[in-house]
Amino acid sequence: MTITKAVIPVAGLGTRFLPATLAVSKVMIPIVDRPSIHYAIEELHQAGITEVIFIISPDQKSIKDYFQPRPDIETLLQNRGETELLKNIRSIQNLVSINFVTQKSPLGLGHAILQSKKLIGDQAFAVLLPDDLIFGNESTTSEMIKIFYQNPGIILAAKKVKDEMISKLGIIDPLNINGNQIHVKSVIEKPDLENAPSNIAIIGRYILPKEIFAKLESIQPGALGEIQLTDAIDSLMTELPCVAYQFTSDHFDIGTPVGLVKASVYQSLTREHMSEDVSSWIKTIPLLNED
Ligand code: G1P
Repeated sequence: MTITKAVIPVAGLGTRFLPATLAVSKVMIPIVDRPSIHYAIEELHQAGITEVIFIISPDQKSIKDYFQPRPDIETLLQNRGETELLKNIRSIQNLVSINFVTQKSPLGLGHAILQSKKLIGDQAFAVLLPDDLIFGNESTTSEMIKIFYQNPGIILAAKKVKDEMISKLGIIDPLNINGNQIHVKSVIEKPDLENAPSNIAIIGRYILPKEIFAKLESIQPGALGEIQLTDAIDSLMTELPCVAYQFTSDHFDIGTPVGLVKASVYQSLTREHMSEDVSSWIKTIPLLNED
């Protein structure tokens, strides 16, 4: 079975980015020159995904706009000879086919994923949370799909986190660790530090079998009173094996302003036409050099 579909939930309110998110969706805030969903689509495309389903809130129109052809702007760029910019704006439109499903009320990540049930149909699929930006030569989703083909079941991306992050994330109880792959015994959403089974957290990449939908339909609200994807995964683990993949690429939690700043600086340092300028400026920032 080939994995060709992916879900990107983007219906969150983005309260940590107020006041900007009064007018713009959190996932449209740029990291250098493109929003997080652009990087997400590139990662999925590299993994062989051909169809992406966005789960949006009722008022999230700007996301749809991002994928609309803009002949007016294209003509302008063409006339100005801006071929590089033209290539950039066209590239994202043709990478994958895009669908939108509206999540009418914010009832949790699990509830958001459940909204994709009809469009996913009878197959395994990928989930990418765009707040978790992962930069690397190899697409992390692609690496996880390869693991899925060897061990069909549930595949999660995972990373060791600091104690203060544990109560904010899904946490893994490992059965055994084999290199960068962990066989998972159970998962728990946002545990207190004292009850956490480890300091290994789920990061926003999942390969999920179709059986997840029946679990999402039957579970009760969990942490924060929401329908949690982690709870559905935990329940499915009694029927199917679960592997957590400790990826090695650089990860940024851009759900927080600090993470967004770090990701932007990192990304700018990978861009040929700006890396030198940014890196030499960083060394001279007056605030860093004050005693
Ligand atoms: C979600 C998941 C959580 C996971 C996290 C990764 O939490 O519920 O298990 O660890 O994404 O970013 P949220 O960030 O939506 O609270």
